[in-house]
Amino acid sequence: MGEMTYAGKTVVVTGSAGGLGFEMGRRFGEAGATIILTDVHAEFGNAAAERLRAAGRDAHFHLLDVREPEQSRTLVDRIVTDHGAIDVWVNNAGVAHKGPAESLPADQWRETIDVMLSGAFYCSQAVSEPMLARGEGVIVNIASVIGCKPIEGRVAYGTAKAGLMSLTEALGIEWAKRGVRVVGVAPAVVMTDMVRKGLAEGTATVEAYERRTPMRRLGEPDEVADAVLFLASDAAAYITAETLPIDGGWTAYQLF
Ligand SMILES: NC(=O)c1ccc[n+]([C@@H]2O[C@H](COP(=O)([O-])OP(=O)(O)OC[C@H]3O[C@@H](n4cnc5c(N)ncnc54)[C@H](O)[C@@H]3O)[C@@H](O)[C@H]2O)c1
Repeated sequence: MGEMTYAGKTVVVTGSAGGLGFEMGRRFGEAGATIILTDVHAEFGNAAAERLRAAGRDAHFHLLDVREPEQSRTLVDRIVTDHGAIDVWVNNAGVAHKGPAESLPADQWRETIDVMLSGAFYCSQAVSEPMLARGEGVIVNIASVIGCKPIEGRVAYGTAKAGLMSLTEALGIEWAKRGVRVVGVAPAVVMTDMVRKGLAEGTATVEAYERRTPMRRLGEPDEVADAVLFLASDAAAYITAETLPIDGGWTAYQLF
């Protein structure tokens, strides 16, 4: 049986100034990891790292716009210099533009693909260098049930997440024999700022989300984080190139 302790491990989470990314950072920190939060929002990110340090964790914040490959390469070098290695890298940064496909502005399409698909690739490529050299490491991609099957009004989001799940398979099989695992989770709806924004804009309701979910409730941030901690641990040593739904039954459910 593998271990789920992260003592002595260094874990990086992108887009982790708040939301699910912060929750993952909090849980990895609790499990003993040195946790590196990264985001485009320096103010929120620094405050988030401060909160973790106040709780006794070894937490740090670095600015990282995942759309810029050069930034992720520089940051990976810096973290390896400061902490010796990167054990786990979580591609979590995300944006959610909504609206009819026929009128989705090109810049919103581009940003979605750049952040959630290309960004995850650039970061994976950057962190693969020290991980492959060491023959050890785990990359976790945060996909979505909308990447498994689309819902209307989310064309860019769903396409980016479907691509991300394909990326998990592609990198997973390519690096499998070299000690690097690439895994993913596909959560259904969890209450974060991203979801609150959609509710405020009137593009969805909590009732509709609950009705769509066999468990009849939204997910909790720590339920996603716990699955990520499991997949990134030695307890999941034989799992790679796979995305696990964390969805209260959503993807299995044929709504009628
Ligand atoms: N909340 C849900 O219901 C849900 C469901 C399935 C998947 N997800 C995914 O989980 C991840 C986290 O989402 P969340 O719900 O916590 O939303 P969130 O909006 O709270 O977090 C997203 C974070 O990504 C950051 N970000 C945006 N662009 C970035 C960039 N270019 N570089 C670096 N960081 C950037 C934002 O600043 C923010 O902190 C996303 O990938 C999202 O698609 C969320």
